[in-house]
Amino acid sequence: MHRDRAAVITTYGGLLIVKVLVTGGAGYIGSTICSALEDNGHIPVIIDSLITGNKAFTEKKIFYQADISDSKALKSIFHDHQDIGAIIHCAALIVVPESVQKPYRYYHENVSKSLELFKFASDSGIKVIFSSTAAVYESSATQMVTEESPLGPDSPYARTKMALEMALLDFSIAYGMRAISLRYFNPIGADPKMRSGPSADSPTHILGKLLSIHQGEESAFKIAGVDWPTRDGTALRDYIHVWDLAEAHIKTLELFDNLVTGENPYSIINLGSGQGTTVLEFLEAFEEVSGTEIKRINGYARPGDTAGAYANGDNAWNKLAWKPRMSIEQGIADAIKWNKKLS
Ligand SMILES: NC(=O)c1ccc[n+]([C@@H]2O[C@H](COP(=O)([O-])OP(=O)(O)OC[C@H]3O[C@@H](n4cnc5c(N)ncnc54)[C@H](O)[C@@H]3O)[C@@H](O)[C@H]2O)c1
Repeated sequence: MHRDRAAVITTYGGLLIVKVLVTGGAGYIGSTICSALEDNGHIPVIIDSLITGNKAFTEKKIFYQADISDSKALKSIFHDHQDIGAIIHCAALIVVPESVQKPYRYYHENVSKSLELFKFASDSGIKVIFSSTAAVYESSATQMVTEESPLGPDSPYARTKMALEMALLDFSIAYGMRAISLRYFNPIGADPKMRSGPSADSPTHILGKLLSIHQGEESAFKIAGVDWPTRDGTALRDYIHVWDLAEAHIKTLELFDNLVTGENPYSIINLGSGQGTTVLEFLEAFEEVSGTEIKRINGYARPGDTAGAYANGDNAWNKLAWKPRMSIEQGIADAIKWNKKLS
């Protein structure tokens, strides 16, 4: 086992300040994490190829436009910033239907390239916080999932994430690498200070559709299935404000050394609200926040759809003392505000 790289570059008034490499820091979630890092006194260093990211999100930040598999770029970043103590690995391709059509691309971009990054981190003794997804879980009969719930990813995209979680576990056992996988449920909203948010063509689910209707681009919302085994028959998801998600990364970073040790070098934490929200409940919340009446059409479930699931948040609470603070209404309001800013 190798030595662990010094994570704390300095302390200010007793606070830890960490310089963190954020891969995919020009993306929706990575950019929000960078803002949360700065707000908490840490220093993000971004590597992003801008394949889908937004260069504007990197303004006034330390930014390297490069692919995560570019070993020369990585060496140069770590040469310039020898005090980087952790990597938050958000960079990935994330569009589920595209991953079904182009699995090679997804395995190459997400798995092959991340393996090189993990090898680099492992060789350098740098801790890793990995953006994983609740899509790694098997559809659950009980709908509430803990970190021990059975895995059964449904798409190539989700399988790339599961493959990387397994690689992190194996690397931690064999090489003493230390890593934490954070399994995100459904992020919504934007940075409350409007520094960044989802891109206009973001593939995100229900909220994207509702925003299109709100802007007059689409006329009605089609509900995919009304006889699911939920309280009102519509499918259920666990939505989490992206700012809450970002703050959970700060907690993970700051508590990392307590959470993963030599004896227990790898950990998994669900990040969700701990509550399921049905499609109808989400529609009603959207109508209330936006003041727009949404015309609904009851449709059939599509192949591959599931009743949905929500996170059990006990592990996040016990390990991170973290619970989401922001409501679905706040997430919807921030998404509407961000959309206005984009248009
Ligand atoms: N958005 C969601 O609903 C969601 C849910 C669960 C998990 N996640 C995970 O969170 C992470 C961030 O997702 P997001 O929504 O911010 O996506 P995003 O597409 O907005 O951001 C991804 C960023 O990674 C960059 N990137 C991709 N491949 C790269 C490479 N090889 N080298 C360098 N940069 C590269 C892109 O340019 C982009 O800026 C992903 O790993 C995703 O799997 C997202």
